[in-house]
Amino acid sequence: MKKILTSVLALAMGVSLVGCGETTDNSSASSSGSKSDKTVGIAMPTKSLERWNRDGEYLKNQFEAAGYKVELKYSDNDTTQQNNDIQGMIADGVNLLMIAAIDGSTLSQTLDEAKAANIPVIAYDRLIMNTDAVSYYVSFDNYTVGKLQGEFVRDQLGLDNAAGPFNIEFTAGDPADNNAGYFFNGAYEALQSYIDAGKLVIPSGKKEFEQVATPSWSTDTALENMQNTLASYYSDGTVLDVALCSNDSTALGVAQAITSDYAGSNAPIVTGQDGDIANLKNIVDGIQTMTVYKNVSDEASVTLEVSKAILAGNTPDANLLSSLSAEASFDTESYNNGVKNVPSYLLVPYVITKDSLQKLVDTGLYQWDSDNKYLESTASTT
Ligand code: BGC
Repeated sequence: MKKILTSVLALAMGVSLVGCGETTDNSSASSSGSKSDKTVGIAMPTKSLERWNRDGEYLKNQFEAAGYKVELKYSDNDTTQQNNDIQGMIADGVNLLMIAAIDGSTLSQTLDEAKAANIPVIAYDRLIMNTDAVSYYVSFDNYTVGKLQGEFVRDQLGLDNAAGPFNIEFTAGDPADNNAGYFFNGAYEALQSYIDAGKLVIPSGKKEFEQVATPSWSTDTALENMQNTLASYYSDGTVLDVALCSNDSTALGVAQAITSDYAGSNAPIVTGQDGDIANLKNIVDGIQTMTVYKNVSDEASVTLEVSKAILAGNTPDANLLSSLSAEASFDTESYNNGVKNVPSYLLVPYVITKDSLQKLVDTGLYQWDSDNKYLESTASTT
């Protein structure tokens, strides 16, 4: 069901974003756009995690280039604020909402209001739970993100042939984010048989998602948790071979803890996700080993096509992908939000290491710095 087509990336990157504060950016589309009578409301969780700045920018630029007006809000990782922000956009009469939820289970009442006002809702990247008001979900194959991390560790350690045992610690994401469990399970299940066989050992014993979760995906919390783990289980010279981190914001803290508090002489494998600039620097410097990359410009492109179809009164399905360059699948079975199976467009993530950084440059979203050593973003907000 994977379809290939032409990129609208150039459009996305052509427009620069001005004056985007943490809470509100109500700038409107160019008056030349043919669809400028329609406004879309975009709710992003926070500016404090790098990727959402990129998502907000790509979405805004692409929708404006397609002639829509855009109302874009960031809600400072505060669920009350996000509810208020969305209610504000409903009151403003937006024609469609796309929401990256801070906590997928806290929006039901607000989305009842959207439904009453006939405003369709797209869950962007994170599934919104316990509501029938969500029409579509656009994200990546979240389980595969974790699976790629687990398989990377398997291959790096040569777990099928090496005797081991190797030591591993897990750091997972925000329990309020429905994605976090998929990432953790994908990684854990890829490694489970080696853990069961004793080839991979978890010295802290923390193998449940709840034990290793990181509220708000906070770098500082991940740092503190790793420092505590190192102090409690590794100060006797125990070797840490792998720190499996679900994403880059947590990997940043974990890598910092390893740099400052780990006594061993080896460089543990550290995984991540997103391709955040600070993490790409750590990959060049050998402090992080890999990141699972998700092209969020493509995620924005798919979201734009889904939105266009909905606003034109159509019911998007698998055929929508035939006009898109992004590799993605249409899935009506995998994502149940407690009320219904939400039809989902799932893009394909892939692994980036020090040896494949050029692949990111090839997307047009990154460039080498003047020393050709580190990557920087070509987006204007990051
Ligand atoms: C996203 C990840 C991101 C994390 C923290 C998740 O919902 O899918 O890409 O790293 O949130 O921002």
